[in-house]
Amino acid sequence: MTRSWQHILLASAFLMASPVSAAGDPEKGAQAYGVCAGCHALEPGRHLSGPSLARIYGRKAGTVEGFVRYSKALKQSKIVWDEKTLDAWIKKPDALIPENLMPFPGIPDAQARADLVAFLKNAGAKGGTAGAPAEGKRQTPDLPHLKQAPAENQVKAIRYCRDSYFVTVATGKVLPYWEFNLRLKTDSSANGPAKGKPVLTGAGMRGDRASIVFANPAEISRFVQQRCE
Ligand code: HEC
Repeated sequence: MTRSWQHILLASAFLMASPVSAAGDPEKGAQAYGVCAGCHALEPGRHLSGPSLARIYGRKAGTVEGFVRYSKALKQSKIVWDEKTLDAWIKKPDALIPENLMPFPGIPDAQARADLVAFLKNAGAKGGTAGAPAEGKRQTPDLPHLKQAPAENQVKAIRYCRDSYFVTVATGKVLPYWEFNLRLKTDSSANGPAKGKPVLTGAGMRGDRASIVFANPAEISRFVQQRCE
């Protein structure tokens, strides 16, 4: 009798202690957020490869305004993001929602997950986790402001011949690229190029790889002239 009471007391002491050790530390979570920051901004409305995670806590999955690339699986999951669901998602996304489109394997460490969830609870909220969102934000990629490109990056003409692009920039230089090394992209954000003024990025002038960023996909075929000299 006495022995089993001792057991129960010990067990309950353990149970009372364990939530304390499992409680997340939002400041550590802000550090851990570094692995998410490349794909998830914390400013509301700023979407990168993944949706903004501002005020994600308490929200229904797949409902962040302005993000149009959700998988069907996530949108139809009927999950609401809370401590339990966020923990399961971060542990192993595919186990919680099969066929989701988040390219992330998961975090096995339970304490690291608890820290992250504690951080996400207030992420992007007014008066939320002081100092911490800035920590997370630090590693969010800053896309270049393409409306202020220097002359050597302003694309004036693009000629295509055989397997090559020849890009004329505003300084008058003509830069040749093997077609496989030149990416044609669009950036519709406020940072993107002005209409009709594509910008060459990514390459130092000697790099053999570069991107040309257009304001709109319709400009791409308008700009590229197929002609050999
Ligand atoms: C390589 C990019 C990438 C990384 C890294 C990444 N995510 Fe995601 N995340 C996505 C994409 C894309 C989606 C949308 C998935 C879908 O629609 O199936 C998503 C969805 C989510 C959602 C659901 C959002 C909603 O609106 O319902 C949460 C929550 C989330 N991620 C949290 C995280 C956290 C926390 C980390 C870091 C531990 C992380 N993600 C790492 C790309 C990423």
